[in-house]
Parts: sequence; C-alpha cells; structure tokens
Amino acid sequence: MTIEFTPLHPVIGAECTGVDISRPLTQEEAAAIDAGMDKYAVLVFRRGAPLTTDEQIAFTKNFGDLEAPYTQINAAEGMRWNNPALSDISNISPTGGLLARDDRKRLSGLGNQMWHSDSSYKAIPARYSLLCAHVLPPEGGDTQFADMRAGYDMLDRKTKLSIDDMVCEHSRIFSKGALGIPFTEAELKAFAPVRQRLVRTHRKTGRKSLFLSSHAGRIEGWPVPEAQILLRELTEHATQREFVYAHRWQVGDLVMWDNRTTMHRARQYDDRVYPRDLRRTTSSDGVMTIEQTAAKAA
Ligand code: OGA
Ligand code: MN
Repeated sequence: MTIEFTPLHPVIGAECTGVDISRPLTQEEAAAIDAGMDKYAVLVFRRGAPLTTDEQIAFTKNFGDLEAPYTQINAAEGMRWNNPALSDISNISPTGGLLARDDRKRLSGLGNQMWHSDSSYKAIPARYSLLCAHVLPPEGGDTQFADMRAGYDMLDRKTKLSIDDMVCEHSRIFSKGALGIPFTEAELKAFAPVRQRLVRTHRKTGRKSLFLSSHAGRIEGWPVPEAQILLRELTEHATQREFVYAHRWQVGDLVMWDNRTTMHRARQYDDRVYPRDLRRTTSSDGVMTIEQTAAKAA
C-alpha cells in the first residue's frame, strides 16, 4: 500500500488513503502522515468503522505525547468514561440519554460552535486533535476548518508588521464566559489566562500562521475593547469562505487537524433530538508559543 493524499479543498484538507491506522505504523508511515499534516493541516481517514479507544490512542501517540489531564466542565451526572486521554465530544449523558437542555456540559459544548484552536487556553497548547465519529445526526453537525496560514499570508503588509510580535491572553473565561456560562471560584482559578503569540512560525515548514481562538480575549498592552475589535476583525478575515473546508461526517471517519495552523468549529444540529457521539484524542505541542522565536514579517 502507498500512502496517498487527495486534496478536499483548494487550500486546506486532504483525504489520506493507503494506510491502516488501526495497526501500529512504521516510522516511514508516521513520517509520511506528519508530512501530509504539514502540507494540508487537516487529514481525513474514511474507515467506515470507528477506531477502538486503544487504537485511537496508539495512533495519536505517533505524533507526540498526549495532553495531560485538566479541569473539565462535566455533565450533571458525571463523565461517560474515566479516561482522560479520550475527550467526550457528544451530547450524551453517562446514563445514556441526551444531555438536558440546561446541563453544563451541553452549554459548555455549544462553545465548540465558535471558531477555536483546541487547548489554546493552556500554557502549552495542543498540536494535533484527532476526532473519530461513532454516532451522527441525520443532518447538521458538520465541522469546519479554517487555514490560518492562508489567513496570515493574505493580510496586508502593514497589518502583518503591526501584529507580528503581539501576545494574546487566552482563557475559557473569555470563550465560554462570552456565552454567559457562570464559573465556580475553583474554575476561575483553574482558568487563569495564559499568554500566546498571535503569530506563530511552524517549526518545520517555517510558515507563519495566525494563532486565533474564541479563547483569546485580550492583547497584552492594549485596552480590552480595542483588542476585542482587532481579534474579531482578524477572525472574520481568517475564516472567510476561501480558507474553509467543511467536513460532512460519516460514521468511522477519523479527522486529524493541526491546532497550530487551523481553527475549527462545529456546526449546529438538533442536539435535543438526535445523539452525536464523537471522541477526541489530543497531542501536546510540548512548548509554549511565547518561548518560540518572535515572528518577523516576510
Ligand atoms: C473538538 C471540536 C467540533 C465538532 O472536538 O475539539 O471542536 O464538530 N469538535 O464536534
Ligand atoms: Mn475543538
């Protein structure tokens, strides 16, 4: 079998075929997939059947260490499984029914419909996210991906120069807070804002990208309203149609994206009628973005 990539969109995303991701990969296979990620930023593996938890975790470990456990917003009845390596991206309660309308996990999960980069609220953010589809609603619930390299490239030179050294503050207090979700004292402490560069340079390709996210709420040294306006402006620019691939899910799909170079968002579906069960593993990028060398405008 040869690994092949078939582009799904003019700038972002490809389908990857010619590799069985449920089995241990050779070093060459892992390197080829990694190179595909560097090029396409989103890879789709259409398998027809979901990976098991162990298979998904093993596949993810080819691309870095898993993220460490962290403070989550849980359903009233607790968690569906006790495995911090596998995030529950579903509307299903631990007892098997759909989450109640006012369940905190449901309300917090609605935040996935805002453009974001996973774990940008952690000092060391995520590298890859891998999402596997187990149960899908009959309509809606696509996931969209925006190419933040194209978003950066297509800025005018003056804007590039002005933002290249900016540092933003990210926190779930900004993203979920904007939706009106109240926090406990413990959460307010755990969710203290972290610093992230606004412009990142990819370690291997040298390409720059905008590191935006719904979690970004402030720019260091700027008045908050002015920062909010600039962040919204950049987000609107970077998520314009030309830079966005929309994934229509099939059961068994595994979609892998690079959180350093993309943002994503879930699209709405009838979550009080239909179950949607996706499961995510996430690798850590290993270093803080503010420890990376400052980007310089090309
Ligand atoms: C995620 C996420 C979007 C979706 O898993 O990180 O944002 O469509 N998912 O469920
Ligand atoms: Mn996400």
